[in-house]
Amino acid sequence: METRSLVTIAKHSKEKLLYLIEMAQEFERHPNRKILDGKIVATLFFEPSTRTRLSFETAANRLGAKVIGFADPKVTSGTKGETLKDTIMMVSNYADIIVMRHYLEGAAQYASEISPVPIVNAGDGANQHPSQTMLDLYSIYKTQGTLENLNIYLVGDLKYGRTVHSIITAMRHFNPTFHFIAPDELAMPDYYKMYCKENNIKFYEHQDFDANTIADADILYMTRVQRERFTDLEEYERVKDRYLLKEDMLFRARHNMKILHPLPRVNEIEYSIDNTPYAYYFQQARNGLYARQALICDALGITLDDIKKDKTIIA
Ligand code: CP
Repeated sequence: METRSLVTIAKHSKEKLLYLIEMAQEFERHPNRKILDGKIVATLFFEPSTRTRLSFETAANRLGAKVIGFADPKVTSGTKGETLKDTIMMVSNYADIIVMRHYLEGAAQYASEISPVPIVNAGDGANQHPSQTMLDLYSIYKTQGTLENLNIYLVGDLKYGRTVHSIITAMRHFNPTFHFIAPDELAMPDYYKMYCKENNIKFYEHQDFDANTIADADILYMTRVQRERFTDLEEYERVKDRYLLKEDMLFRARHNMKILHPLPRVNEIEYSIDNTPYAYYFQQARNGLYARQALICDALGITLDDIKKDKTIIA
């Protein structure tokens, strides 16, 4: 079924990404409006979440929509054996758009093929997290003033971290140089390295993580080791604390460098860094509100022009 679903950011053109950034800027100027008055947004979270669910729900609430859904699949009829297909078909009877996080890779694609209403992928297993990428792009744009020609260092769990997979596909339009810093066990999957080669994206791989290695970074994108994706917990124990960013590693950092992290943080960034001008992860999470307001509107067919002409702004 053809809808305005967002399954992967990889399908978006450069123009579309910049258009969505402009839309997010409009919402940052005026986040409280009634432009979605009468709409119902469903949030179906089959996996735990703090930021993604709450920022989508805040985005909807601040635009005048009503929100239904669940944060824990244990309270749903899935526990009685209801399939994902039937759940989606049912919820589409009630809601105008479905925001879904699911533990299975490909679940969002499947849902988008059967759903009569748009599906927004809020993370599918270790695969993709397109709405996170939209707020990451917005954060990079705001802090660097451009998305073009940046040195982006991705650090930590590059194997299971869906946010780093999504950001590579989106940044292909902007001539980035990526640096992948991960232990062997958590290295960037071959699929994404091949993707870089096919799209002429420069990338380098490192195992050292020190002041010299990161001195050229414009963006230092830290990630959590994804405990929930490991089948061997001994392996998780071996790698979980391999890369901790310490404040004394920043003495050579560029003045414009910003540290991003999709959060939650476990043990990747020393807490004292929070008070430095390099830390941007909490503002990044705030940017998620505006980026997700843009994504909900786009999925519902509301254009930037509609938003610019909108007269429902609440002071
Ligand atoms: N960044 C992110 O996806 O956070 P949550 O898991 O809390 O939604």
